[in-house]
Amino acid sequence: MSRSAHPAGPRHADVLPEGHWSAPPADLNTLDEKVWARTVGRNDEGIVTVGGIEVTRLAEEFGTPAYFLDETDFRARCRAWAEAFGKDADVFYAGKAFLSRAVVRWLKEEGLNLDVCSGGELATALDAGMPAERIAFHGNNKSDGEIRRAVGAGVGRIVLDSFQEIVRVAHVAQEAGVRQRVQIRVTVGVEAHTHEFIATAHEDQKFGIALAGGQAAEAVRRALRLDSLELIGIHSHIGSQIFDMAGFEVSARRVVQLLAEVRDEHGVELPEIDLGGGLGIAYTSDDDPREPHEIAKALGEIVTRECEAAGLRTPRISVEPGRAIVGPTAFTLYEVGTVKPLEGLRTYVSVDGGMSDNIRTALYDAEYSVALVSRTSDAEPMLSRVVGKHCESGDIVVKDAFLPADLAPGDLIAVPATGAYCRSMASNYNHALRPPVVAVRDGAARVIVRRETEEDLLRLDVG
Ligand code: LLP
Repeated sequence: MSRSAHPAGPRHADVLPEGHWSAPPADLNTLDEKVWARTVGRNDEGIVTVGGIEVTRLAEEFGTPAYFLDETDFRARCRAWAEAFGKDADVFYAGKAFLSRAVVRWLKEEGLNLDVCSGGELATALDAGMPAERIAFHGNNKSDGEIRRAVGAGVGRIVLDSFQEIVRVAHVAQEAGVRQRVQIRVTVGVEAHTHEFIATAHEDQKFGIALAGGQAAEAVRRALRLDSLELIGIHSHIGSQIFDMAGFEVSARRVVQLLAEVRDEHGVELPEIDLGGGLGIAYTSDDDPREPHEIAKALGEIVTRECEAAGLRTPRISVEPGRAIVGPTAFTLYEVGTVKPLEGLRTYVSVDGGMSDNIRTALYDAEYSVALVSRTSDAEPMLSRVVGKHCESGDIVVKDAFLPADLAPGDLIAVPATGAYCRSMASNYNHALRPPVVAVRDGAARVIVRRETEEDLLRLDVG
């Protein structure tokens, strides 16, 4: 993706590459279960339902655009991760993907832990009653205030991201008269196969402390010297939306090597390693994500093998999936406003949201699927680009997709797999009002994050 300025239009008007995933499907009315939440289907009238409720009814009651989250699916995914990793490992849901008080309660009930990375996420977690010892606190530049809040609340672990932070957290813990459990986040030199913006473990980036040059070993040395810190392990997160386990394998091997070095130098076997999040989900029919039990098995085997080779006891493993839990559980429902065919190119379908509710397409060139959900259609497939209502030509929600040629204003279309990093990255660009998140379960729908209002906007603008 180029960051250089370019005249509006041409760059976005490239034709669909041959063999692209969105070559017309056999039947545009079929919903690929890989990309849609578990309870989504079409009823006898051809209207899409979630949790047994028609999207037409949902649109009437809650308006559009809106995110609809399948609570049954969310809870099932939490359970699948918890069961796959079992009693000897810990699953921390990464709240940055999407966090609300209802989500915190579901996590608590389903036995998951929670990774937060800001004071705001910590406040949400604590307010909704997540026990502090089940919270991990992340971030590459935590403020003193955030550290005090986390230590004061008694969070289960703080993940240290720099040499300065080792001292800061030690100081706060000492003042509070506690011994704070911490991990050290290391960068293992792995560049995961994903978009450059969200790959985090190669050396040239802001997170963690490099294994290279003995930096991480020095961080361990310093942390072990400080009485107010209890160093429980090493943390590595290599990127996001990853399908290939090879990156995790290299990462685990390098982290275990560090554990062996620590044992040799200090006579201490650190009891935990955290391999971060990053597991990919299906945004289109072309994506083939792995199931939690396959991931758990693969990671468990790698760590056990490496530890045996190094003569170490196998440490307790933790992981931090965000997208893989919440991503597939929600879709965004839009109403079509205009349909604009461009001869020989494609048809632009404008919806009532856009880059303010899903920035991922503009930011990462992310691919999404889309379907007509308020009815079925036998019309021919029409190469479409779903765009928003913002004053910007890069305001694209779905770059290339096929929709039926009889699509018309007033139709409802839905974009699946928008549970992660859509509401959590939503903005008020053009003073758009951020859409609500509505949880649907067993024939009942309830707002868990309400739609913003113009009063909300004006309340922040103090004149
Ligand atoms: N743990 C740590 C330390 C992380 O930094 C992240 C994500 C996760 C866990 C969760 O990763 P997940 O399982 O959700 O991939 N905004 C980007 C993704 C940024 C991810 C940042 N860190 C996107 O929309 O693709």
